[in-house]
Order: sequence, then structure tokens, then C-alpha cells
Amino acid sequence: MSLIETARKVRENAHAPYSNFKVGAALRAASGAVYAGCNVENVAYPEGTCAEAGAIAAMVAGGDSQIAEIAVIADSPKPVSPCGGCRQKIAEFASGDVIVTLTTIDGVTMQTTVADLLPGVFDADYMSRV
Ligand code: THU
Repeated sequence: MSLIETARKVRENAHAPYSNFKVGAALRAASGAVYAGCNVENVAYPEGTCAEAGAIAAMVAGGDSQIAEIAVIADSPKPVSPCGGCRQKIAEFASGDVIVTLTTIDGVTMQTTVADLLPGVFDADYMSRV
């Protein structure tokens, strides 16, 4: 199954009763293992946890720490754009050249990179004097 197909399938499991906006994400780790996540909202924090964060949490729990490729899917008029927090979370585990595929359930797809999504990323180098 492709990453987009995996993301499409996990999106169906999203818990999004507040936004009604379901998102699916799937990533391939450097090990080759594939991890998936969907957004999970709750009444106290209706924005909940993003699909990308879910996939990353599954990856870390699975013992991987390097994203080789990631895909995100939603039912949006144009390919869904990861929020700022997710961009930083993706950048924590991916080099700048990692391909990010953003797509709609109709199949409108665009590809970008982690560096293009988050130029000027704050990384550990900034803390090298500590
Ligand atoms: N959401 C994601 O899961 N990923 C994104 O890239 C954009 C937004 C979720 C968070 C929330 O559950 C809903 O979409 C509306 O913001």
C-alpha cells in the first residue's frame, strides 16, 4: 500500500466531532516501517491532536526516529497544509530534503519538502552554546 493509501485509510478513523474535518497521515521511517495517524479531538481541546502528530507518536513508540517520507490527506479544496506545530514536529524527525506529499481525497496532490514547509527552522544548533 502506498503512503497516500495508508493515510486515506487511517483518516476514516479520525475522531473529529468538533471540526468535522478528518485528516490522515502516514510516514515511512528510515527503517522502512510505515506508521499512520489520524486527528483526535476532545471536548476540552477541540483542536485536539493532529494526524501528523499521531503518526509521529506511533513512529517514536515503534522505536523509529527518522522520517524518510510523509503523506497527509484531507477532504479539502486544495491539498491540506500542515499547521505550524506539525511542521516543527515533522522537522524534529526529518531532514530538510524529505518529501512531504499533501493531497485531497479527490486526488489533488502536491509535493513539497520539510525545508520548504518550515524555512528558518529552530533546531538544536541554536542551543550549541548552552
Ligand atoms: N489537522 C490535522 O490533523 N492536520 C493538519 O495538517 C491540519 C489540521 C486537524 C486538527 C483538527 O482536528 C482539525 O484538523 C481542524 O483543525
